[in-house]
Amino acid sequence: MEKDRITTAPSRLRAGFVGAGFMAEVHSRAARAAGAEIAGIASSSPASARRAKDRLGVQQAYASVQDLIEDGTIDVIHICTPNATHHALAEAALKAGKHVVCEKPLATNVQDASRLVELAAAAGTVATVPFVYRFHPMIREARERIASGQTGRISTVQGSYLQDWLLSRDDDNWRVDAGLGGPSRAFADIGSHLCDLLEFVSGDRITRVGALSRTFFSGRANHKDIQTEDLVAAVFATESGTVGNLLVSQVAPGRKNRLMIEISGAESTLQFDQEAPETLWLGKRTGSQLLVRDPDALSPEAARLSVLPAGHSQGYQDAFNAFVADTYAAINGDFRDGLPTFRDGLRSAILTESIIKSSKGGEWVDVPEVKELEGVQ
Ligand SMILES: NC(=O)c1ccc[n+]([C@@H]2O[C@H](COP(=O)([O-])OP(=O)(O)OC[C@H]3O[C@@H](n4cnc5c(N)ncnc54)[C@H](O)[C@@H]3O)[C@@H](O)[C@H]2O)c1
Repeated sequence: MEKDRITTAPSRLRAGFVGAGFMAEVHSRAARAAGAEIAGIASSSPASARRAKDRLGVQQAYASVQDLIEDGTIDVIHICTPNATHHALAEAALKAGKHVVCEKPLATNVQDASRLVELAAAAGTVATVPFVYRFHPMIREARERIASGQTGRISTVQGSYLQDWLLSRDDDNWRVDAGLGGPSRAFADIGSHLCDLLEFVSGDRITRVGALSRTFFSGRANHKDIQTEDLVAAVFATESGTVGNLLVSQVAPGRKNRLMIEISGAESTLQFDQEAPETLWLGKRTGSQLLVRDPDALSPEAARLSVLPAGHSQGYQDAFNAFVADTYAAINGDFRDGLPTFRDGLRSAILTESIIKSSKGGEWVDVPEVKELEGVQ
């Protein structure tokens, strides 16, 4: 007689973290919430890793990043370090056969990002980039309304991401240094999130950009002759023939993480503001409404991401938790809709390079599609 098949739950993933700053905290909380073992951490020095081990409740501090990556018991590596280090760290982790979550920007140029897409394909592991605003339920609701045609034929797409944490000349950070942050700062840092969201929600692609950028302060507390931009304004055309604009600034007083997108169609306008993520504004010629998150009234994907009942607010960390949970589900073979992968990181690098080219050259730039790049499958 055939024995009953005994099924066991997949063993808990063991997660390792590289970097011990703001994002390592956010990632470790999300990994813990998704049921992983918070197994190891390595940072810029053994002392920094040891301090983070206690602060974040990680099982083991590693003396070097290489030691962490070479540990055969670690399944997934989260890269939470300055931008210019992402490429080499992700490459090493993929070559060691790890699943990788690599912070944005995936790389500081298109060539390195393309190579990482190829390496991830060769490794056959899951490789994702935290474009986490995709995981707000009301973003999924907006996306579903556009995809199902309820919004009508799209006429305009616009958005902005405004911050003020670099408002004063005394404000400084590794991000202003092109050697650590990459040749683009404001756009690569937050414009990347904005464009990912505009394309994700609209289902459309930016095909042509005309951009202007400015560096408000050429010197800051610890940096002279700063080459990276404080703000970018751009006009763009899309694949479907609509037009749009965007504004990105890290010197906008009073704005903290004011990521706003607004998409207008023949029937309605949808507006989402990341600082009020429980609502979606539904503009109509008559009878505009503010939709409030309520899983019973939302589309299936928005309801899936509603981990709390209506009236108990969800926010940034919940979106991050959902991103990591979906990454881990993919590692266990369950690929869910909307998971941002290294290809999305490459798409972002292409847009960033196009924006820089346009603003430096004072010209319109055609944005290549990922598939048009040589060597990317
Ligand atoms: N997805 C998001 O929503 C989001 C939000 C903020 C930041 N980020 C990204 O996360 C990354 C990290 O940002 P952060 O705010 O945590 O920075 P941070 O300065 O707070 O932390 C960076 C950490 O990396 C460590 N580090 C530096 N160089 C290293 C190296 N070569 N090897 C190992 N460790 C090294 C530092 O010691 C520090 O602990 C950036 O790329 C940023 O763009 C993403």
